[in-house]
Amino acid sequence: MGTNVAGHKLPSGLRAVCRETRTYGSHERCLQTIQASTQTKRQIQEVLDQLDKDLIGLVPVKTRIKEIAALLLVHRLRKLLGLSSSNPGLHMSFTGSPGTGKTTVALKMADILFRLGYIKKGHLVTVTRDDLVGQYIGHTAPKTKEVLKRAMGGVLFIDEAYYLYKPDNERDYGSEAIEILLQVMENQREDLVIIFAGYKDRMDSFYESNPGLSSRVANHVDFPDYNPEELLHIGKMMLQEQQYRLTAESETVLLDYIALRMQEPHFANARSVRNAIDRARMRQANRMFAAGSRVLTKADLVTIQPEDFLRSRLFRK
Ligand SMILES: Nc1ncnc2c1ncn2[C@@H]1O[C@H](COP(=O)(O)OP(=O)(O)O)[C@@H](O)[C@H]1O
Ligand SMILES: [Mg+2]
Repeated sequence: MGTNVAGHKLPSGLRAVCRETRTYGSHERCLQTIQASTQTKRQIQEVLDQLDKDLIGLVPVKTRIKEIAALLLVHRLRKLLGLSSSNPGLHMSFTGSPGTGKTTVALKMADILFRLGYIKKGHLVTVTRDDLVGQYIGHTAPKTKEVLKRAMGGVLFIDEAYYLYKPDNERDYGSEAIEILLQVMENQREDLVIIFAGYKDRMDSFYESNPGLSSRVANHVDFPDYNPEELLHIGKMMLQEQQYRLTAESETVLLDYIALRMQEPHFANARSVRNAIDRARMRQANRMFAAGSRVLTKADLVTIQPEDFLRSRLFRK
């Protein structure tokens, strides 16, 4: 059994919902509204499926994003049906080491918020302290406001947000930027969502020192470091995307490389893997170039050999 709206079948249960609510002028209008939201749900599911596919590991992060998306969707649906529902907080905190996928997930989140109609444009503007805070008196407010203007209708991603607050310098202009951000966060009409990002421990003390700000950040997502196997998996996926392949031997060498790289300073999880792969591609290309007049096969062109990693300085120590 189904009711036909605009050529689509709707489950009969939905007709009951529409009979119960008095929000809509007509039964027909109610059914159309519900159908539109069913479509939205499908679109959100698409983004979540893509997130699942694009990102290796990160199970707790994916779970949190699904929870947040579900909550925001239900809020939208309840509102459509005239059910009371307090406004969900949209501002977020993404904590974790560099290269754990915070920016990548923020892009997806902007898409989800856009599809749900919480923001009008859905773009992501990434900034750090230097984009918000001026060097001289009177420079900070215009800088911060300019950034906010650019981010309106989208998501403002503030990377290493704790640099905005310098407890040892009470005349630091960072606090001026925080004040302006606070006003905008409070004012939901501004149609802007802010994501604060950075290392977990530093973000924790940043929130402790700025309780006003902390209380306006409703959603906390923590990005764990990857283990070597996940990083290898990420590397293989990156290579596959660019139509390269590893031999069994070069895969072992890449895993060795990852283990060494993890011990080095400035290790940045998946970003370090991406950089390693870029350099391996460069060495592979040099190898092809040096092959002289030998005819290059397709296999030559797509294969990353162990030596393409082994020439790294990490193996020379
Ligand atoms: N789980 C993952 N699976 C695949 N690629 C990833 C994953 N996490 C990060 N990356 C890739 O690593 C790079 C750095 O990620 P990014 O989102 O910029 O990290 P962060 O913002 O935490 O520093 C990007 O190229 C991204 O595509
Ligand atoms: Mg980032």
